[in-house]
Amino acid sequence: MLPRLQNRVPPPALCLLDLGRLRARRLEVTLTEDVLVVHGGTPLQGQIRVRGAKNLVSKAMVAALLGESPSRLYDVPRIRDVEVVSGLLELHGVKVSAGAEDGELVMDPTNVESASTDQINVHAGSSRIPILLCGPLLHRLGHAFIPDLGGCHIGPRPIDFHIRALREFGAVVDKTPEGMHLSAPNGLHGAKLELPYPSVGATEQVLLTAVRAEGVTELRNAAIEPEIMDLICILQKMGAIITVHTDRVIEIQGVPRLYGYEHKPIPDRIEAASWAAAALATRGEIEVVGARQADMMTFLNVFRSIGGELKITDDRVARDGVTGAEGGIKFWHPGGELKAVALETDVHPGFMTDWQQPLVVALTQARGISIMHETVYEQRLGYTEALNSMGATIQVYRDCLGGTPCRFGRRNFMHSAVIAGPSKLHAADLRIPDLRAGFAHLIAALAAEGTSRVYGVDLIKRGYEDFEAKLAALGAHVERP
Ligand code: EPZ
Repeated sequence: MLPRLQNRVPPPALCLLDLGRLRARRLEVTLTEDVLVVHGGTPLQGQIRVRGAKNLVSKAMVAALLGESPSRLYDVPRIRDVEVVSGLLELHGVKVSAGAEDGELVMDPTNVESASTDQINVHAGSSRIPILLCGPLLHRLGHAFIPDLGGCHIGPRPIDFHIRALREFGAVVDKTPEGMHLSAPNGLHGAKLELPYPSVGATEQVLLTAVRAEGVTELRNAAIEPEIMDLICILQKMGAIITVHTDRVIEIQGVPRLYGYEHKPIPDRIEAASWAAAALATRGEIEVVGARQADMMTFLNVFRSIGGELKITDDRVARDGVTGAEGGIKFWHPGGELKAVALETDVHPGFMTDWQQPLVVALTQARGISIMHETVYEQRLGYTEALNSMGATIQVYRDCLGGTPCRFGRRNFMHSAVIAGPSKLHAADLRIPDLRAGFAHLIAALAAEGTSRVYGVDLIKRGYEDFEAKLAALGAHVERP
């Protein structure tokens, strides 16, 4: 639902930034760093394919640990997070191998075993997924060690909801400087839980723990993202009994054992939206094969409201009966001017926080004042400074602009952005701060006139499979120096 804007837009003078200061800023770079040279100004045109969602695949791999027989996951993208989880599973005795099909992963957890803290700590700081191993390892081994978490630096990202829930299940959690030790001296038993906020990770933590805990678990204020529903489908295939009630209530009836699954994950709706935003920002046309309408309805509405065009063919197989035919969604800039919008990010079915950054780049090209109110993470607008250094006019505010007040209102978090457009973007040297902001930087460089150098691009491999090959397929002029 779009907010009432009229009285909330700050006066235009406040929107103007000290661009001279920002442009004068120089990037300090080392010569050995990974860098992509981007010759911008060419519309991206062509077709690319998205595979299984990063934010489901990694959790599906953790779920395999709960089964007593091998699991098979299809359409797994070659991204860093998959490598990290594979490494952690292998350390715990799970045999991870490639299946016959491209993208097929086989995980055999028949002989799960303990790993040393030193071995596990090799993965410290690499991802946030290890926290989800708590429940499965407690069920399989009676103890668990979780290294320091990594993931994108987009705010403090506490794990208090996870720890509170694990303790309610009966886990003993001991936080030490080297990581987190857990045990379950009396086993794990069902609990009545309510999350203070519908956290994706904490909901997954509860699901992965409750499925084999003794008795019934009721989780209130749960996250209901499509990736969570897909995880529930996987757990049901494994033998779990999970009921999703109305109003974010999930009930899980614990079962004594689970088995392996075979599953094709939902497609990556974040990657699909990132390419859609790239089409808009570069005035191009990109068909995202594999993208699915049902998971992206909120994004598609916004895309159209801005003035983008799209054509959905994701039901091609069912409609045409053509075996092997795969549909998707085609996104394009129809010419003319884009329109400004006011948006806020939210939990599902709202506008995803991970769609925010690429779309803001497209909004720099829209006529008028757009607003982006970030309500999921408190520090996810820092990347706008780099866009300003390229000629965008974006001002960030502490206030909850353009929408309903959120958890971060009246606190010291710059979590609303006002974007004045259209702005002609020019090339710059950029450093990638995190995954989604990194992709936004890349889109900005592709949309800008001139040659940009984007430092730290390897971070993008954490969540975007073969992004350089996809850029080449879309006619982008990029090169490694
Ligand atoms: C998942 O992170 C995704 N990561 C994120 O995607 C995504 O942005 C996020 O969900 C929201 O959709 C993965 O799936 C690996 P949360 P998660 O718990 O589970 C607060 C990407 O780029 N919170 O839903 O870590 C938290 O600080 C990544 O692909 C607590 O306060 O997110 C945040 O403000 C980035 N205490 C809010 O809840 C807790 O114990 C939502 O976080 C847990 C969360």
